[in-house]
Amino acid sequence: MAHRIVLIPGDGIGPEVIPVAARVLAATGVALEFVPAEAGWGTFERRGTALPEETLALVRECGLALFGAVSSPSRKVPGYRSPIVALRRELDLYANLRPALSAPIPGSRPGIDLLLVRENTEGLYAGRERREGETAIAERVITRGASERIARVACALARSRRRRLTIVHKANILPETCGLFRDLVRAQAAAYPALRVDELLVDTMAMRLVLTPEEFDVIVTTNLFGDILSDEAAALVGGMGIAPAGNIGPEAAVFEPVHGSAPDIAGKGIANPTAAILAASMLLTHIGEEQAARRVRQAVWRVLEHGPHTPDLGGAAGTADVTRAVIENL
Ligand code: NAI
Ligand code: MG
Repeated sequence: MAHRIVLIPGDGIGPEVIPVAARVLAATGVALEFVPAEAGWGTFERRGTALPEETLALVRECGLALFGAVSSPSRKVPGYRSPIVALRRELDLYANLRPALSAPIPGSRPGIDLLLVRENTEGLYAGRERREGETAIAERVITRGASERIARVACALARSRRRRLTIVHKANILPETCGLFRDLVRAQAAAYPALRVDELLVDTMAMRLVLTPEEFDVIVTTNLFGDILSDEAAALVGGMGIAPAGNIGPEAAVFEPVHGSAPDIAGKGIANPTAAILAASMLLTHIGEEQAARRVRQAVWRVLEHGPHTPDLGGAAGTADVTRAVIENL
């Protein structure tokens, strides 16, 4: 039976890259059915909700989605909540997987093959922010359950890769929250004796990622640190135009490019679809279609190597040119 995949383009360049990713998926020949759905700032303006009930219900029902990007205001708008953050929490998509792999383009540093595993449901993104007069307070929530399950995901992935696990925290300043996270990850990792486990403070990690990114394999960390470090890792290997991510939960998985809605280039036909296409290939891996996933990755790699390239990679091609080239190379 065909897998049903909910397509949520969102705002800005989302509607330019998600249909492309779906076309590439369709071109692999894997039996897939696409179900359109909406979310985002445009949806909020039209309907008063950024994540309509039917979108949430569809992702729940199908268990798979490709999400583009949404434009979130960087001020408080009553009733608005980022739909991707809401999806992660509502569907308990607790593991955010962000691979960073050296790409055959001038802007990428060689020798990098790391996977950032980010806890996706709590930490400073738990949504517990409030204002008390002249003071604003955000609560950082770290639980045993969430820390242990992200640790198990990271350990299992490290075992299938180069067997190195780096725990990133700031337990010297946040001994309760980061201390608990670090201790629980370490305790879970004890069940994987083949792993080499070490830990780094997040600021040191930020520096080491710049200085010696090749040495890292799997990095596991809390929500906000993972958000920041994964963008840093993406920048090392070619930037936002080529960085994919997966949000995995017990009953559903949502794949997305790491980038946002890129309002500065939206509507110009020059968005790099590579990140969305690589997110689609992560989806194929997730549903057990590894051979098709590999074909997509190889096609993308050939296009990165030989072009055409969109302007973010120094080229002059458009989204459609890159798409055509990827499909020809499948
Ligand atoms: P952004 O990722 O949208 O853009 C950052 C820079 O990278 C821009 O110069 C943009 O043109 C470029 N860029 C991003 N994706 C690209 C692509 N595929 N091809 C070529 N160039 C690309 O981040 P920014 O500007 O900080 O945020 C813009 C909006 O996106 C905001 O409203 C923000 O809230 C939202 N956002 C949404 C995310 C999501 O839905 N998951 C994630 C990050 C930001
Ligand atoms: Mg981010």
